[in-house]
Amino acid sequence: MNKDQSTGKQVPTIAIFASGAGSNAEKIIESVLSRETPSIPAFKVGLIVGNKPGAGVFSIASRYGIPTLLIEKEQFFRGNGYVDELKESGIDFVVLAGFLWKIPRSLVEAFRNKIINIHPALLPKYGGKGMYGRFVHETVIANGDEESGITIHWVDEQYDHGSVIFQATCPVFPGDTADTLASRIHQLEHRHYPEVIRNLVSVL
Ligand code: GRF
Repeated sequence: MNKDQSTGKQVPTIAIFASGAGSNAEKIIESVLSRETPSIPAFKVGLIVGNKPGAGVFSIASRYGIPTLLIEKEQFFRGNGYVDELKESGIDFVVLAGFLWKIPRSLVEAFRNKIINIHPALLPKYGGKGMYGRFVHETVIANGDEESGITIHWVDEQYDHGSVIFQATCPVFPGDTADTLASRIHQLEHRHYPEVIRNLVSVL
C-alpha cells in the first residue's frame, strides 16, 4: 500500500509490467486520474516495469511522473524475480499488460492470486508460448473463426494458463486483417481492463 498524498489514507498500489507501446497501461493510469479526483483513489499505479529500454510504455510513465524499473533477464529468472524491489515500492498487485516474459516462480509465489494478465483472444484458444500480438490475430483469421475477444486471467507458472476472471467477445469480419482485428480487440481491452482491476483491488 502507499499513502495517498491528498487524503493521507492508504491505497492499494499496483505495478504494471509491459514490454510494448503501453496503450493498456495508459488507459489504466487515466482511469485512476479521471474518476477519483478529489476523493480517495481506488488504487495507485506505483511502478511501471519493463524489459525493453525505449519501449513506449516508459514515455507514458514519464509523462505521468510514475517511477519505472527496467529489469534484466538474469536477475528476473535466476535472481529474486524483483520481488524485493516490488515490495520496497509498496506494490500489492501486479498487472501484466503486453509483457512477454514468463513470470518466474519466485514472483508468482510472492504475489499468489495477485498477478493478472490480459490476453487478446478467448483462452484457452490461442494461448501459450509464441501466441502474442499479431500471431494470435493471424491464427484466428486463418482458422476462419467468426468471433474473438479478450481474456483477463490469473497468472501462474505457465503461459496463459491461470483461471479466467473475465472475457468479452467481438466479431471477426470477412476481410479482417491482423491489424483491423487488433484494433477492435484493443478497444475491448481499454474498455474493460481498468474496471476489472478496480474491482479486484477493492477487496485487497
Ligand atoms: C494487448 O493486446 C494485450 O492483450 C497483449 O499485449 C497487447 C499490449 O498492447 N497481452 P499495449 O502495449 O497495451 O498497447
